[in-house]
Amino acid sequence: MFSCGMLMARFVGLVRLYASGCPAYSQYLWLFKRIMFLRRDDFSAEWSKMNSCITGLQWGDEGKGKVVDILAEKSDVVVRYAGGANAGHTVVIGGHKFALHLLPSGSVRQDTACVIANGVVIDPDCLIQEIDSLRHRDIGLEGRLFISENAHVVLDYHKQEDQLREQSLGNSKLGTTIRGIGPCYADKIGRSYAVRVGDFKEPEYLRQKLQKIAKFKNNYFKAMYGGDEVDADAIFSKCLIYAERLGNFIVDTTEHLHNAISVGKSVLFEGAQGALLDLDHGTFPYVTSSNASSLGMAAGSGVPAKLVDKYMGVVKSYTTRVGEGPFPTEQDNEIGSEIRERGNEYGTTTGRPRRCGWFDAVAVKYSALIGGIDELAMMHLDTLSGMSELKIAKAYRIDGKETAFFPSNCAKLSRVECVYETLPGWDDDVSCIRTFEQLPANARAYVAKIEELTGCPISIIGVGPGREQTIIR
Ligand code: GDP
Ligand code: IMO
Ligand code: MG
Repeated sequence: MFSCGMLMARFVGLVRLYASGCPAYSQYLWLFKRIMFLRRDDFSAEWSKMNSCITGLQWGDEGKGKVVDILAEKSDVVVRYAGGANAGHTVVIGGHKFALHLLPSGSVRQDTACVIANGVVIDPDCLIQEIDSLRHRDIGLEGRLFISENAHVVLDYHKQEDQLREQSLGNSKLGTTIRGIGPCYADKIGRSYAVRVGDFKEPEYLRQKLQKIAKFKNNYFKAMYGGDEVDADAIFSKCLIYAERLGNFIVDTTEHLHNAISVGKSVLFEGAQGALLDLDHGTFPYVTSSNASSLGMAAGSGVPAKLVDKYMGVVKSYTTRVGEGPFPTEQDNEIGSEIRERGNEYGTTTGRPRRCGWFDAVAVKYSALIGGIDELAMMHLDTLSGMSELKIAKAYRIDGKETAFFPSNCAKLSRVECVYETLPGWDDDVSCIRTFEQLPANARAYVAKIEELTGCPISIIGVGPGREQTIIR
């Protein structure tokens, strides 16, 4: 398969790269697999044969859209399993930008089937707009988009409630995206006043249900916030339009996915948000309302975790956060502003400036641990070019005690002092570099340090927003 010379060269190159650090067991394993079997040319072939799950390991916006777009080339099916239109996933192809909120990022590839599974909360206005905007760019979804009949529906009153609640909280607001996510998931958990996509196919049942919901919501809004009346007839009329536009896409996606897997198709699960925004394992209450980590994949799709061969975590080479909540490595100063401007760190969904700070290895190690992460994709390495020195949080000091385990408890997080490792930066523009070996030595050392501190190998490095601005190792 390989000549001895090739294997030897590969071995020497990889060992040299790792000699500076002290790789964890998983890195040795990865190194061994790389030496024995695969390298850049084989990378896509490897992904075409497996089921994988790609999730963010920070507070969202890590660059999941770009990574999913790249890996979707070799996947038959791409699945969104959680979150809703709070997500904003950017894909840049040949300088053209796509910002996706509900459609999986694989949808820009005409040959990829797209599933919006049961765990997603769907704003039909937003979804129809997205389908139309892709159609205007000659990307059709007919016959390849499958929407779960069990996914829940975000209606106008959910967005209204999200806004009223945030307003009423004043300084203690969460800083949500106002996309109605929390109220819709709350209705799902509460069961009595929830609308599912499958209800679009039962108009009379839906009409009656909406009457009941409007009565409840009006009493609730009046008592709690004031605000506009919920008009059941007006919502029902809109639902009839949604049913007409989306009806052909609605199926049992659990059955669809299991059928696909049983005939050997490769399925890629695309996470939204990030593990630190996970409802159960993130920085509660400053989280989203779904299990945004890979732990949500099984419940949100009906496909058990054991059918997924590889879990990839996406991180930025620094950290960002939108909305309120603790952020130990935040640089609310010139450094943060510099990162924001260099990285164009403004929200894809809300346009809000993102809070910026140093890479937090304590947080990422925790996210990787709960997510069963095998490998990392690290985006935005290019953004750090030109910074004289870089810091990485390698431990926290809380109440005088040092720990390397991330406490998701917000009270503890608010008392964290970060213990940093400082590394030298690099000046060279790396956006045109396509191989790891060509990166400046300090950039390679920075990558190696993150691998060492997180215990995860980094197999994809982003050096710009474009699909091609990527280093595959
Ligand atoms: P997602 O929510 O995780 O999909 O991330 P977003 O799309 O919300 O935000 C990531 C932003 O970074 C988008 O504007 C991407 O186009 C951009 N991006 C992704 N990877 C890179 C990279 O390696 N370098 C640079 N400069 N931009 C990137
Ligand atoms: P992607 O998929 C970054 C944040 C909001 C807010 C908190 C709760 O693009 O990475 P919500 O509207 O979900 O109730 O808001 O979660 N948030 C995100 N931050 N990226 C996202 O998605 C986010 N989705 C929600 O800013 O702090
Ligand atoms: Mg985003």
